[in-house]
Amino acid sequence: MNLTNVIAAIPDYPKPGVIFRDITPLLADGKVFQQVIDQFAERYRPLGVTKVVGIEARGFIFATALAYALGIGFVPLRKPGKLPRATLSQTYALEYGEDTLEIHVDDIQPGERVVIMDDLLATGGTVMAAIELLRRQQADIVECAFVITLNDLEGHSRLANAAIPYYTLCTF
Ligand code: PRP
Ligand code: ADE
Repeated sequence: MNLTNVIAAIPDYPKPGVIFRDITPLLADGKVFQQVIDQFAERYRPLGVTKVVGIEARGFIFATALAYALGIGFVPLRKPGKLPRATLSQTYALEYGEDTLEIHVDDIQPGERVVIMDDLLATGGTVMAAIELLRRQQADIVECAFVITLNDLEGHSRLANAAIPYYTLCTF
């Protein structure tokens, strides 16, 4: 699937030297958005996945659509303080500083087969925190799925080193 014409490249956003990969043109094109979700759904339908786990905020867009297409549940991983019931938290390093993801403890049962979804894999800090949360919940991580991978950053190697299956629709 060639998505290069529906992902905008914004130089020096949000700071100098970064090329921001903007998925909003993809989302605004109903046919392409449908093709993207259909491709993920075809991949995961035969694999006995029981939950799609999405990472706030852009990951929610793809994860909820995929969960709907598969007829299975969606579980949000949220930034701190947003989930109202008992949570597990995992803090992770950003390029500058750190951030935290949280999950409701009762959203995943031990042994559930989960796909973790986000729009984009860069350094891998975010997805490694998600993996740690799902491991603490004793989930079986079927795969981590992305629309975009930034090849110059180390996220894909971190997943390979951790022996976590990984799938991406396109790379830059
Ligand atoms: C972006 C993106 C991924 C993460 C990838 O999210 O949606 O979640 O960065 O970066 P990493 O691989 O280096 O961790 P961001 O934190 O900008 O949040 P947003 O989805 O709320 O815009
Ligand atoms: N998240 C981390 N790096 C990014 C980039 N270059 N474009 C869009 N989202 C990102």
